Amino acid sequence: MPAIECHELSKTYVSHKKQPGLLGALKGLFTREKTLVEAVKGVTLSIEQGELVGFLGPNGAGKTTTIKMLSGILYPTSGEARVLGVRPFDRRPEMLRQISLVMGNKMQLWWDLPARDSFQVLRELYDVDAKLYQSRLDHLLEALQLTDKVDTQVRKLSLGERMKCELVAALLHAPRVVFLDEPTIGLDVVSQKRIRDFLKELNRDEGCTILLTSHYMQDVEELCDRVVVIDHGTLVFEGTLDSLTRRYAASRRLRLAFEDAAPVEALAAFGEIVESAENSVVLAIPQERTAAIAGEILARFDVVDIAVEQVSVEEVVRTLFTREPTSP
Ligand SMILES: Nc1ncnc2c1ncn2[C@@H]1O[C@H](COP(=O)(O)OP(=O)(O)O)[C@@H](O)[C@H]1O
Ligand SMILES: [Mg+2]
Repeated sequence: MPAIECHELSKTYVSHKKQPGLLGALKGLFTREKTLVEAVKGVTLSIEQGELVGFLGPNGAGKTTTIKMLSGILYPTSGEARVLGVRPFDRRPEMLRQISLVMGNKMQLWWDLPARDSFQVLRELYDVDAKLYQSRLDHLLEALQLTDKVDTQVRKLSLGERMKCELVAALLHAPRVVFLDEPTIGLDVVSQKRIRDFLKELNRDEGCTILLTSHYMQDVEELCDRVVVIDHGTLVFEGTLDSLTRRYAASRRLRLAFEDAAPVEALAAFGEIVESAENSVVLAIPQERTAAIAGEILARFDVVDIAVEQVSVEEVVRTLFTREPTSP
């Protein structure tokens, strides 16, 4: 049984336009102008137990909406989903105990209480055995380096510390499937790394299935074996990070160093200038012409060093995340 699967999952948001002024409000009583947003359009997906999958795509692509449906907090307009074999939006308690959702921009912990108090409430809510709870809490706190922070009011913690407390709260009941929506957004690099290492351990040691969205390439690169890319509500790619890079990057980078000033203008005839400095140039060229172009440049210019590089994953994903605004 897959951990997460969905078939033709779709969500259309319906909102009502309000017209300005009293007259508008009165008119609104009779005729309300509807606007429809097709946020997710027929997503079909299957994730095995123990997988750690990256869910990528530009802003507004439908990632959060999909995650909300899969974690049972939003009812789909059409389509089906199963998490550990059960429909998530039926919100059955046995299923809810097995999953968790963490949203980087939405905190769940009580602001005015120390995190330890919130954890205790969650323990009772999930009815976790007291002894099990204590050892799990100790383990989580240690892994996230929070042991000396849990008795401080949450409002006095740094953003990174608060996020790590959110993770503890989400994992206390040892869920089998975890949805993470931008868990490292806005955090300092040290907290980001700590959270990354922690998620890697959680996946490896507990076999916890994780579906993760992140804008940070390093998260995706270090954590995800497989990525799924969504755009305009539709899946556009599914596979390994390597194959994503290959597919989106059918070009090479030629890094050239010159004895004297780089002949930038002449080089522009061979490809696109990506970087240029006093004595060096990076040229983007079609992959299949790598050898021919390199040969010609070596023959014509005074090159002291040459290197052929692949387009970085960083660059591929940056392209994926910066979509030109689409016309309505
Ligand atoms: N509650 C809502 N009502 C209306 N439209 C929404 C709502 N939530 C999201 N949307 C729209 O649905 C689309 C997908 O949004 P979202 O799932 O948040 O994308 P992502 O997480 O990939 O950035 C966007 O066009 C967004 O504006
Ligand atoms: Mg989102």
